[in-house]
Formats: sequence, C-alpha cells, structure tokens
Amino acid sequence: MTVTTTADVLALDAAAQDLLFREARTANAFTDEPVTDDQLAAIYDLVKWAPSAMNSQPLRIVAVRSPEARERLVAQMSEGNRRKTAGAPLTLIAVADEDFHEHLPRTFPHSAGARERMAANPGRPAMARFNASIQLGYLILGIRAAGLAAGPMAGYDAEGVKREFLAPNEQVVAVVNVGRPGPDAWFDRLPRLEYDEAVREI
Ligand SMILES: Cc1cc2nc3c(=O)[nH]c(=O)nc-3n(C[C@H](O)[C@H](O)[C@H](O)COP(=O)(O)O)c2cc1C
Repeated sequence: MTVTTTADVLALDAAAQDLLFREARTANAFTDEPVTDDQLAAIYDLVKWAPSAMNSQPLRIVAVRSPEARERLVAQMSEGNRRKTAGAPLTLIAVADEDFHEHLPRTFPHSAGARERMAANPGRPAMARFNASIQLGYLILGIRAAGLAAGPMAGYDAEGVKREFLAPNEQVVAVVNVGRPGPDAWFDRLPRLEYDEAVREI
C-alpha cells in the first residue's frame, strides 16, 4: 500500500509536530529549574480534554513536591529509577480513581442511573485503569506542550506507593518525572515500528 507520510497532510504545524512528537524525548535527567504550579495547572487544563469511556475521567494526579514526600517516593522507586526521580524538580503520580462513578451524575448527566450501575460493576477497577492510562498519554503530551520533558516510569513498588500516598480506592498507573532536560538526559533514540508493521487494513 502506498501511504503518504509527509507532514503536510497534518493540520498541526511542523514546529508543534516536532515539539509534541518527533523531537520529544523521554528524559532521564533534569535541570533544577522548578516546574511551577501555574505550569502544572496549564498542563491539566489541556489534559482534561482527553476522551474517556462514559467521560469517566478516572485520572488523578499527585504532585510530589515537598522534599520530605519526594524522599518517601524515591524509596519506592526501583533501583534504576531512583537517581532520576531524586533529581527531577517535580514528580507526578498518575493515579486511577476506582470511585470515578461518583462524578457521573455531573460528568455523564444524560445517562440516568449510571452511577448506580457502575457502582455494581465488578469491571470498574479495570475500567479506571484503562481510561486513566489513556489520560496518562495525554498528560505526557500536555507536559511536552508546556515545553517540558516527561520521564514516565513503571518501575516502582506499587504497593509501597499506594501505602505512602494513595487512598484505598486509588491505584497507581505510572510515576512521571517532569522538568527541563539536563545533561545526558537522553538514552539513544530507539527504533519505532513502521506503518506496515503496526497498521493493517482489512
Ligand atoms: C508507561 C511507561 C513506563 C516506563 N517505565 C520506565 C521505567 O521504569 N524506567 C525508565 O528508565 N524508563 C521507563 N520508560 C521510558 C521508556 O523506556 C521510553 O519512553 C522509551 O524507550 C522511548 O524513549 P524516547 O521517548 O526517548 O524515544 C517508561 C515509559 C512508559 C511510557
């Protein structure tokens, strides 16, 4: 199949494509330039538009800022993730709220009884995790849109992070370092699957 991959078929301008995708990297080291509350609020203001099933919006974000809380978080990270987390100006815990259904009367108001139906649905924790993961992808893009770099990580003691920081109805989805990339921030860029390897038409 012949597929046009030139950037000019896209609506987003080339600089924004670079910022969000082509030149965006996973950062492993950061400068000590702070990430402000205003930046985080502006990022969330974009990220909140992510789609989710039933507009469920299960993502919660715990911004780990105080030195004391950061130390407790670093202790829960896997060995290879400790130094980069300790060196980031801000770290976010991306959380799935299994009780997202409590908001449905406001966030999905046209569906009468949605909250009660979801309350009785045993698939609710999995639904929370799946949709919060979609929102996590948007969170990474939102961080990039602010001109910052994200360092998402799955290497941590999930039970430990939950015990230290989360409520019983919450599960950790990822931990994300945020900041300006510092020296030696990047590993080598790894190959991506090509179109024909990832997409098939039927
Ligand atoms: C959900 C998720 C979990 C990840 N977990 C880790 C991790 O625990 N430690 C780590 O160093 N990198 C982790 N990464 C980073 C990936 O290895 C990295 O994004 C990938 O190699 C692409 O790198 P690039 O964006 O610089 O091209 C994770 C990324 C994602 C999205």
